[in-house]
Amino acid sequence: MRGYPFCEGMRAGYAGEMSTSLVDAVAILRAGGLVAFPTETVYGLGADASKPLAVRQIFARKGRPADHPLIVHLARLGQIEDWAVMSPVARALAEAFWPGPLTLVLPRRPTVHDEVTGGLETVGIRIPSHPVAAALLSAFGGGVAAPSANRFGRVSPTTAAHVRAEFGEAVPVLDGGPCSVGVESTIIDLSGPPALLRPGGISIEAIEAISGPLTTSDTRAPGTLASHYAPRTALLLSTTPEEDATRLRSEGRTVAILLAGEPADHARRLYAELRRLDLLGVDILIAERSEASGLGHAINDRLSRAAAARTH
Ligand code: TXA
Ligand code: MG
Repeated sequence: MRGYPFCEGMRAGYAGEMSTSLVDAVAILRAGGLVAFPTETVYGLGADASKPLAVRQIFARKGRPADHPLIVHLARLGQIEDWAVMSPVARALAEAFWPGPLTLVLPRRPTVHDEVTGGLETVGIRIPSHPVAAALLSAFGGGVAAPSANRFGRVSPTTAAHVRAEFGEAVPVLDGGPCSVGVESTIIDLSGPPALLRPGGISIEAIEAISGPLTTSDTRAPGTLASHYAPRTALLLSTTPEEDATRLRSEGRTVAILLAGEPADHARRLYAELRRLDLLGVDILIAERSEASGLGHAINDRLSRAAAARTH
């Protein structure tokens, strides 16, 4: 690109100066290293899922308990048989929503490492739709184990800059711009009757139209801990944010308000807003509860976990 300052500028502007390339990201995965990459939901912290030592680094880097299972990301349906056993309902959900923000928990093949599954007999699988994730997974050719690229318990990253704020220069980041969905994938456990483990980027209504009614499951999952996805500032989840703000201010406390909006739009900016508001140094963040439909379920789920992180 030498001699073409416009192209240089575009490259730096889009990918960021510290961004790694697709070719480098594949090489890092092949060598057993970690690379952060974009998906349509949030950025993931990826490692070759077939290398236990590589996968262990994810837990060390995140500060995540080792028995918490990871999602294996694949490029296409034809790869699933290497990892998991598909049922007819799994196939129907896969055909409806993959590639996309859905994770299926399925009976695992015996070859899948315990480092990935946390010793469970199941494995979480997702085929993401983000073009950069799809290109990475295709070029790599295997499964990429990846949790969200944040330190354990913290707000998930939806831009490359968020990932850098979590890990600094220690983790190379493949920059694919801001995530379009903004909250994590919906997780459905199909190891028994279809069960919702985590509301997310595909609405419960859309899933139930294919799977039939979902039950809830008590399968272990860190995303189901009461306290998770938390900013450092105390957070109040509210249906009357303005009134709560007036009351708290009259008690001498400083507040910042995050108003709800159209759910898909609100989901897209949720984590970036939580990160921005967290830096203001106010006493309390007040987040308006979203409508309880579509992506609103996922938004309210994340906000109530963030609220549970502190007592007020
Ligand atoms: O959108 C997403 O799902 C993002 C992107 C990067 O794909 N990933 C993500 O990963 O949110 P993580 O690790 O932050 O959350 C995955 C959740 C955890 O709560 C984990 O316990 C659950 O999936 N999970 C993974 N495998 C499981 C299994 N076999 N059984 C039950 N839960 C499982
Ligand atoms: Mg996470």
